Amino acid sequence: MRIAIYPGTFDPVTNGHVDVAKRAAELFDKVIVCVAVNTLKEPLFTGAERVKMIREAVKDIKNIEVEEFQGLLVDYAMKKNADAIVRGLRAVSDFEYEFQMALTNRKLCSHVDTVFLMPHEKYTYLNSTIVREIARFGGDVREFVPEHVRKELMNKARFARTNRRRKQS
Ligand code: COA
Repeated sequence: MRIAIYPGTFDPVTNGHVDVAKRAAELFDKVIVCVAVNTLKEPLFTGAERVKMIREAVKDIKNIEVEEFQGLLVDYAMKKNADAIVRGLRAVSDFEYEFQMALTNRKLCSHVDTVFLMPHEKYTYLNSTIVREIARFGGDVREFVPEHVRKELMNKARFARTNRRRKQS
């Protein structure tokens, strides 16, 4: 059984992430999408919300599981008996950061390698920050995220607007 972990912040999951998860599911027997902690980020959605949105997005793919994990990725990979960590590579600009992370993870745990997959080229410019920003200002994100994620983003934007108005009055 070949197991891969696909970690990320997924705040929120985008069509690009789903594309990478699907590609990984064709290469591995089991893929565990892991909502992990990037200490440099303060997510808009809670871990539980992000897990729920990813589960819904990949519900038709039988060999994908979704979990949340707080801690070192290599510890999680070992706990899950993973053979590989999957990361998406969208552009050359991703490379340096990904290279650093992959080699650090290999130093920490020599038997877990990182596999890079390229999402479809129509998603190479996408990231979660852009999606959050468009949604925050009322823009249309339906091309970038699954419909249920679009609705969750709209709810957050509405909630933030109400809060701002309350504070101003
Ligand atoms: N489609 C669309 N967007 C994509 C994408 C794709 N296929 N692949 C990556 N992205 C975007 C993400 O949305 C994200 O955008 P954002 O910065 O606007 O939020 C950005 O590219 C990269 O983020 P992501 O892939 O979510 O990774 P990350 O850099 O936030 O996650 C962790 C890094 C969580 C995997 C890493 O911090 C980690 O392993 N944490 C656990 C602790 C640990 O072990 N640390 C040591 C690591 S060496």
